[in-house]
Amino acid sequence: MNQPLISLRDVSMTFRKGSPWRRSEVRAVDHVTLDMDEGSILALVGESGCGKTTIGKAIAGLYRPTQGQVLYRGKDIWKLSKAEFRTYRREVQLVHQDSFAALNPSLTIYQSLSAPLLQYGLVPAGKTARTVVGEYLEMVELTPPDQFLDKYPHQLSGGQRQRVVLARALTVRPKLIVADEPVSMVDVSLRLALLNLMARMNKEMGVSFAYITHDLATARYLAGQGQISVMYLGEMVETGPVGQVLATPRHPYLQALLSAVPVPDPIVARSRKMLALRSLEMPDPGAPPAGCRFHPRCPYAEAVCSSKVPTLEAMEGGDRVACHLKERIPAWPV
Ligand SMILES: Nc1ncnc2c1ncn2[C@@H]1O[C@H](COP(=O)(O)OP(=O)(O)OP(=O)(O)O)[C@@H](O)[C@H]1O
Ligand SMILES: [Mg+2]
Repeated sequence: MNQPLISLRDVSMTFRKGSPWRRSEVRAVDHVTLDMDEGSILALVGESGCGKTTIGKAIAGLYRPTQGQVLYRGKDIWKLSKAEFRTYRREVQLVHQDSFAALNPSLTIYQSLSAPLLQYGLVPAGKTARTVVGEYLEMVELTPPDQFLDKYPHQLSGGQRQRVVLARALTVRPKLIVADEPVSMVDVSLRLALLNLMARMNKEMGVSFAYITHDLATARYLAGQGQISVMYLGEMVETGPVGQVLATPRHPYLQALLSAVPVPDPIVARSRKMLALRSLEMPDPGAPPAGCRFHPRCPYAEAVCSSKVPTLEAMEGGDRVACHLKERIPAWPV
Protein backbone atom coordinates (compact mmCIF):
# COMPACT_ATOMS: atom_id res chain seq x y z
CA MET A 1 0.00 0.00 0.00
CA ASN A 2 1.11 3.54 -0.68
CA GLN A 3 2.39 5.62 2.16
CA PRO A 4 0.00 8.38 3.19
CA LEU A 5 1.10 11.91 2.33
CA ILE A 6 0.26 13.14 5.80
CA SER A 7 -0.77 11.33 8.96
CA LEU A 8 -1.76 12.47 12.40
CA ARG A 9 -1.06 9.85 15.03
CA ASP A 10 -2.97 10.31 18.27
CA VAL A 11 -2.52 14.07 18.14
CA SER A 12 -3.62 16.23 21.07
CA MET A 13 -3.16 19.94 21.52
CA THR A 14 -3.61 21.72 24.81
CA PHE A 15 -3.54 25.49 25.09
CA ARG A 16 -2.80 27.25 28.32
CA LYS A 17 -4.77 30.39 28.98
CA GLY A 18 -4.83 33.11 31.58
CA SER A 19 -2.25 34.56 33.93
CA PRO A 20 0.30 32.52 35.92
CA TRP A 21 -1.89 32.59 39.05
CA ARG A 22 -5.08 31.72 37.25
CA ARG A 23 -4.23 29.14 34.66
CA SER A 24 -6.76 27.26 32.66
CA GLU A 25 -6.27 24.71 29.96
CA VAL A 26 -8.19 24.03 26.80
CA ARG A 27 -7.75 20.73 25.06
CA ALA A 28 -8.48 21.96 21.55
CA VAL A 29 -7.74 18.61 19.92
CA ASP A 30 -7.94 15.27 21.67
CA HIS A 31 -6.34 12.06 20.37
CA VAL A 32 -6.99 12.62 16.69
CA THR A 33 -5.66 10.13 14.16
CA LEU A 34 -6.06 10.57 10.42
CA ASP A 35 -4.37 9.77 7.11
CA MET A 36 -4.41 11.61 3.81
CA ASP A 37 -3.18 10.05 0.58
CA GLU A 38 -1.45 12.00 -2.14
CA GLY A 39 -4.03 13.64 -4.42
CA SER A 40 -6.92 13.13 -2.01
CA ILE A 41 -9.46 15.52 -0.52
CA LEU A 42 -10.46 15.43 3.12
CA ALA A 43 -13.22 17.61 4.51
CA LEU A 44 -12.84 18.44 8.17
CA VAL A 45 -16.22 19.49 9.52
CA GLY A 46 -17.64 20.69 12.82
CA GLU A 47 -19.05 23.64 14.70
CA SER A 48 -17.09 26.66 15.84
CA GLY A 49 -14.46 25.85 18.46
CA CYS A 50 -14.31 22.11 17.80
CA GLY A 51 -10.63 22.25 16.88
CA LYS A 52 -10.60 22.39 13.07
CA THR A 53 -8.13 25.26 12.73
CA THR A 54 -5.88 23.74 15.37
CA ILE A 55 -5.72 20.50 13.37
CA GLY A 56 -5.10 22.48 10.17
CA LYS A 57 -2.21 24.33 11.76
CA ALA A 58 -0.79 21.09 13.14
CA ILE A 59 -0.92 19.59 9.62
CA ALA A 60 0.84 22.66 8.22
CA GLY A 61 3.53 22.54 10.92
CA LEU A 62 2.51 25.87 12.46
CA TYR A 63 1.55 24.29 15.78
CA ARG A 64 3.57 21.60 17.46
CA PRO A 65 1.12 19.18 19.08
CA THR A 66 1.47 18.68 22.83
CA GLN A 67 1.07 14.95 22.22
CA GLY A 68 1.24 12.58 19.27
CA GLN A 69 2.95 12.81 15.92
CA VAL A 70 2.46 14.49 12.58
CA LEU A 71 4.04 12.42 9.81
CA TYR A 72 4.84 13.71 6.33
CA ARG A 73 5.52 10.83 3.94
CA GLY A 74 6.03 8.66 7.00
CA LYS A 75 8.49 10.95 8.77
CA ASP A 76 7.83 12.86 11.98
CA ILE A 77 7.86 16.50 10.86
CA TRP A 78 9.44 17.61 14.13
CA LYS A 79 12.41 15.32 13.57
CA LEU A 80 13.17 16.37 9.99
CA SER A 81 16.50 17.86 9.01
CA LYS A 82 16.49 21.58 8.27
CA ALA A 83 16.41 20.97 4.53
CA GLU A 84 13.65 18.37 4.80
CA PHE A 85 11.57 20.69 6.98
CA ARG A 86 11.97 23.45 4.43
CA THR A 87 10.71 21.15 1.67
CA TYR A 88 7.80 20.04 3.82
CA ARG A 89 6.84 23.64 4.64
CA ARG A 90 6.89 24.47 0.95
CA GLU A 91 4.87 21.41 -0.03
CA VAL A 92 2.18 21.94 2.61
CA GLN A 93 0.51 25.33 2.28
CA LEU A 94 -2.17 26.95 4.41
CA VAL A 95 -4.89 29.16 2.97
CA HIS A 96 -7.34 30.74 5.36
CA GLN A 97 -10.57 32.64 5.13
CA ASP A 98 -9.27 36.17 5.34
CA SER A 99 -7.65 36.88 1.99
CA PHE A 100 -7.19 40.51 2.97
CA ALA A 101 -5.02 39.62 5.95
CA ALA A 102 -3.10 37.05 3.91
CA LEU A 103 -1.79 39.57 1.37
CA ASN A 104 0.54 42.42 2.15
CA PRO A 105 -1.53 45.55 1.33
CA SER A 106 1.51 47.53 0.20
CA LEU A 107 2.62 44.96 -2.39
CA THR A 108 1.16 44.51 -5.87
CA ILE A 109 -0.13 41.11 -6.89
CA TYR A 110 3.01 40.61 -8.97
CA GLN A 111 5.25 41.45 -6.01
CA SER A 112 3.32 39.12 -3.67
CA LEU A 113 3.44 36.20 -6.08
CA SER A 114 6.96 36.58 -7.36
CA ALA A 115 8.51 36.60 -3.88
CA PRO A 116 8.00 32.86 -3.14
CA LEU A 117 8.98 31.96 -6.72
CA LEU A 118 12.27 33.78 -6.38
CA GLN A 119 12.83 32.60 -2.82
CA TYR A 120 12.61 28.95 -3.83
CA GLY A 121 14.28 29.44 -7.23
CA LEU A 122 11.21 28.25 -9.12
CA VAL A 123 11.44 30.48 -12.18
CA PRO A 124 12.48 28.24 -15.11
CA ALA A 125 15.43 29.39 -17.24
CA GLY A 126 14.31 31.41 -20.24
CA LYS A 127 11.22 32.77 -18.51
CA THR A 128 10.77 35.92 -16.48
CA ALA A 129 9.13 35.90 -13.06
CA ARG A 130 6.45 38.15 -14.55
CA THR A 131 5.54 35.57 -17.20
CA VAL A 132 5.40 32.80 -14.61
CA VAL A 133 3.23 34.85 -12.23
CA GLY A 134 0.97 35.62 -15.20
CA GLU A 135 0.60 31.88 -15.89
CA TYR A 136 -0.46 31.26 -12.30
CA LEU A 137 -3.02 34.06 -12.53
CA GLU A 138 -4.41 32.39 -15.66
CA MET A 139 -4.63 29.08 -13.80
CA VAL A 140 -6.89 30.69 -11.20
CA GLU A 141 -8.88 32.37 -13.96
CA LEU A 142 -7.75 35.93 -13.36
CA THR A 143 -7.50 36.85 -17.03
CA PRO A 144 -5.98 38.61 -18.78
CA PRO A 145 -3.20 38.61 -16.16
CA ASP A 146 -1.98 42.04 -17.24
CA GLN A 147 -5.14 43.46 -15.73
CA PHE A 148 -4.21 42.10 -12.32
CA LEU A 149 -0.42 42.00 -12.05
CA ASP A 150 0.06 45.59 -10.95
CA LYS A 151 -3.05 45.91 -8.81
CA TYR A 152 -3.02 46.13 -5.02
CA PRO A 153 -5.12 43.76 -2.88
CA HIS A 154 -7.68 46.45 -2.01
CA GLN A 155 -8.41 46.97 -5.70
CA LEU A 156 -9.75 43.42 -6.03
CA SER A 157 -13.00 41.81 -4.88
CA GLY A 158 -12.99 39.23 -2.09
CA GLY A 159 -13.39 36.39 -4.57
CA GLN A 160 -10.55 37.69 -6.74
CA ARG A 161 -8.30 38.12 -3.71
CA GLN A 162 -8.94 34.55 -2.61
CA ARG A 163 -7.94 33.43 -6.13
CA VAL A 164 -4.71 35.38 -5.76
CA VAL A 165 -4.06 33.64 -2.43
CA LEU A 166 -4.66 30.24 -4.06
CA ALA A 167 -2.36 31.20 -6.94
CA ARG A 168 0.33 32.19 -4.46
CA ALA A 169 -0.01 28.83 -2.71
CA LEU A 170 0.35 27.14 -6.11
CA THR A 171 3.54 28.99 -7.05
CA VAL A 172 5.58 26.85 -4.65
CA ARG A 173 4.23 23.61 -6.19
CA PRO A 174 2.49 22.30 -3.09
CA LYS A 175 1.42 18.70 -2.57
CA LEU A 176 -1.22 19.64 -0.02
CA ILE A 177 -3.21 22.78 0.64
CA VAL A 178 -4.89 23.15 4.02
CA ALA A 179 -7.82 25.40 3.14
CA ASP A 180 -9.34 26.76 6.36
CA GLU A 181 -12.84 28.09 5.61
CA PRO A 182 -11.52 29.46 2.29
CA VAL A 183 -14.90 30.58 0.99
CA SER A 184 -16.67 31.73 4.15
CA MET A 185 -15.83 35.41 3.61
CA VAL A 186 -16.67 35.33 -0.09
CA ASP A 187 -20.10 36.24 -1.50
CA VAL A 188 -22.33 33.22 -1.76
CA SER A 189 -22.63 33.69 -5.52
CA LEU A 190 -18.86 33.36 -5.93
CA ARG A 191 -18.32 30.42 -3.60
CA LEU A 192 -19.14 27.74 -6.12
CA ALA A 193 -16.61 29.10 -8.60
CA LEU A 194 -13.87 28.99 -5.94
CA LEU A 195 -14.81 25.45 -4.93
CA ASN A 196 -14.71 24.45 -8.60
CA LEU A 197 -11.29 26.02 -8.89
CA MET A 198 -10.00 23.98 -5.95
CA ALA A 199 -11.54 20.83 -7.46
CA ARG A 200 -9.69 21.60 -10.70
CA MET A 201 -6.41 22.16 -8.87
CA ASN A 202 -6.92 18.75 -7.29
CA LYS A 203 -7.81 16.98 -10.52
CA GLU A 204 -5.39 18.61 -12.93
CA MET A 205 -2.42 19.24 -10.67
CA GLY A 206 -2.89 16.46 -8.15
CA VAL A 207 -2.84 18.88 -5.21
CA SER A 208 -4.42 17.34 -2.11
CA PHE A 209 -6.81 19.44 -0.06
CA ALA A 210 -7.66 19.41 3.62
CA TYR A 211 -10.85 21.43 3.39
CA ILE A 212 -11.90 22.89 6.73
CA THR A 213 -15.49 24.05 7.02
CA HIS A 214 -18.56 24.17 9.24
CA ASP A 215 -20.73 23.81 6.15
CA LEU A 216 -21.74 20.27 5.23
CA ALA A 217 -23.04 21.30 1.82
CA THR A 218 -19.71 22.65 0.56
CA ALA A 219 -17.91 19.69 2.15
CA ARG A 220 -20.07 17.35 0.12
CA TYR A 221 -19.56 19.45 -3.00
CA LEU A 222 -15.78 19.66 -2.88
CA ALA A 223 -14.91 16.33 -1.30
CA GLY A 224 -17.57 14.38 -3.26
CA GLN A 225 -15.32 11.37 -3.91
CA GLY A 226 -13.09 11.97 -0.90
CA GLN A 227 -13.22 11.55 2.84
CA ILE A 228 -14.93 13.46 5.60
CA SER A 229 -14.08 13.71 9.29
CA VAL A 230 -16.61 15.17 11.67
CA MET A 231 -15.33 16.76 14.87
CA TYR A 232 -17.03 17.54 18.13
CA LEU A 233 -15.27 19.39 20.98
CA GLY A 234 -11.78 18.37 19.88
CA GLU A 235 -12.61 14.76 19.08
CA MET A 236 -13.34 12.97 15.86
CA VAL A 237 -16.79 11.40 16.08
CA GLU A 238 -17.27 9.99 12.59
CA THR A 239 -15.09 9.58 9.53
CA GLY A 240 -15.21 7.82 6.18
CA PRO A 241 -16.09 8.27 2.49
CA VAL A 242 -18.14 11.46 2.09
CA GLY A 243 -21.01 9.93 0.14
CA GLN A 244 -21.51 7.14 2.60
CA VAL A 245 -21.04 9.15 5.79
CA LEU A 246 -23.55 11.79 4.71
CA ALA A 247 -26.07 9.31 3.28
CA THR A 248 -26.08 7.07 6.35
CA PRO A 249 -24.81 9.15 9.26
CA ARG A 250 -24.42 7.01 12.38
CA HIS A 251 -23.27 9.38 15.08
CA PRO A 252 -26.18 11.24 16.75
CA TYR A 253 -24.19 14.49 16.54
CA LEU A 254 -23.78 14.18 12.77
CA GLN A 255 -27.43 13.19 12.44
CA ALA A 256 -28.36 16.35 14.35
CA LEU A 257 -26.09 18.51 12.18
CA LEU A 258 -27.62 17.07 9.02
CA SER A 259 -31.15 17.39 10.27
CA ALA A 260 -30.53 21.11 10.84
CA VAL A 261 -29.56 21.67 7.18
CA PRO A 262 -32.51 23.23 5.34
CA VAL A 263 -33.87 21.16 2.45
CA PRO A 264 -35.26 23.09 -0.55
CA ASP A 265 -38.00 20.55 -1.32
CA PRO A 266 -40.95 21.25 1.06
CA ILE A 267 -42.30 17.70 0.78
CA VAL A 268 -38.96 16.17 1.69
CA ALA A 269 -38.53 18.82 4.38
CA ARG A 270 -41.87 17.95 6.02
CA SER A 271 -41.17 14.25 5.99
CA ARG A 272 -37.79 14.80 7.58
CA LYS A 273 -37.68 14.70 11.33
CA MET A 274 -35.43 17.08 13.14
CA LEU A 275 -33.34 15.24 15.69
CA ALA A 276 -34.14 16.83 19.03
CA LEU A 277 -31.06 17.43 21.14
CA ARG A 278 -31.37 17.45 24.90
CA SER A 279 -29.47 20.70 25.11
CA LEU A 280 -28.59 23.29 22.52
CA GLU A 281 -25.70 24.63 24.52
CA MET A 282 -22.17 23.72 23.63
CA PRO A 283 -20.24 22.68 26.78
CA ASP A 284 -17.23 24.71 27.89
CA PRO A 285 -14.23 23.31 25.98
CA GLY A 286 -12.09 24.05 29.08
CA ALA A 287 -14.16 21.58 31.10
CA PRO A 288 -15.52 19.02 28.65
CA PRO A 289 -18.02 16.40 29.87
CA ALA A 290 -16.62 13.05 31.01
CA GLY A 291 -17.14 9.95 28.90
CA CYS A 292 -18.52 10.77 25.48
CA ARG A 293 -18.29 14.55 25.15
CA PHE A 294 -21.60 14.63 23.35
CA HIS A 295 -23.58 12.73 25.98
CA PRO A 296 -25.20 15.73 27.77
CA ARG A 297 -26.81 16.74 24.48
CA CYS A 298 -27.43 13.30 23.04
CA PRO A 299 -31.04 12.10 22.89
CA TYR A 300 -29.95 8.46 23.12
CA ALA A 301 -27.37 8.70 25.94
CA GLU A 302 -27.19 5.85 28.45
CA ALA A 303 -25.15 5.34 31.63
CA VAL A 304 -22.05 4.08 29.81
CA CYS A 305 -21.89 7.31 27.76
CA SER A 306 -21.12 9.46 30.79
CA SER A 307 -18.37 7.21 32.11
CA LYS A 308 -16.46 5.73 29.20
CA VAL A 309 -14.78 7.55 26.29
CA PRO A 310 -15.84 5.93 22.99
CA THR A 311 -13.17 5.28 20.35
CA LEU A 312 -13.56 5.24 16.58
CA GLU A 313 -14.60 1.80 15.40
CA ALA A 314 -15.11 0.55 11.88
CA MET A 315 -18.64 -0.09 10.69
CA GLU A 316 -19.74 -1.93 7.59
CA GLY A 317 -18.69 -0.06 4.45
CA GLY A 318 -15.61 1.70 5.79
CA ASP A 319 -17.28 4.31 7.96
CA ARG A 320 -15.76 4.71 11.45
CA VAL A 321 -17.82 5.94 14.39
CA ALA A 322 -17.06 6.84 18.00
CA CYS A 323 -20.30 6.01 19.79
CA HIS A 324 -21.07 3.31 22.37
CA LEU A 325 -24.55 2.87 20.95
CA LYS A 326 -23.63 2.92 17.27
CA GLU A 327 -25.28 -0.44 16.54
CA ARG A 328 -28.56 0.71 18.06
CA ILE A 329 -28.90 4.33 16.92
CA PRO A 330 -31.91 4.55 14.57
CA ALA A 331 -31.09 5.32 10.96
CA TRP A 332 -31.47 8.90 9.83
CA PRO A 333 -33.24 10.27 7.80
CA VAL A 334 -36.20 8.25 9.02
N1 LIG B 1 -3.88 30.02 20.41
C1 LIG B 1 -4.84 29.61 21.24
N2 LIG B 1 -4.76 29.85 22.58
C2 LIG B 1 -5.71 29.42 23.42
N3 LIG B 1 -6.80 28.74 23.05
C3 LIG B 1 -6.96 28.46 21.74
C4 LIG B 1 -5.98 28.88 20.77
N4 LIG B 1 -6.40 28.47 19.55
C5 LIG B 1 -7.57 27.83 19.75
N5 LIG B 1 -7.90 27.82 21.06
C6 LIG B 1 -9.11 27.16 21.64
O1 LIG B 1 -9.15 25.83 21.15
C7 LIG B 1 -10.46 25.45 20.77
C8 LIG B 1 -10.47 25.07 19.31
O2 LIG B 1 -10.20 26.21 18.51
P1 LIG B 1 -10.10 26.17 16.92
O3 LIG B 1 -9.76 27.54 16.48
O4 LIG B 1 -9.20 25.07 16.50
O5 LIG B 1 -11.60 25.82 16.51
P2 LIG B 1 -12.32 25.87 15.09
O6 LIG B 1 -13.04 24.57 14.95
O7 LIG B 1 -11.36 26.25 14.04
O8 LIG B 1 -13.41 27.03 15.30
P3 LIG B 1 -14.01 28.09 14.22
O9 LIG B 1 -15.02 27.33 13.40
O10 LIG B 1 -14.65 29.12 15.09
O11 LIG B 1 -12.87 28.63 13.42
C9 LIG B 1 -11.35 26.64 21.11
O12 LIG B 1 -11.93 26.40 22.37
C10 LIG B 1 -10.39 27.80 21.15
O13 LIG B 1 -10.84 28.78 22.06
MG1 LIG C 1 -11.25 27.87 12.75
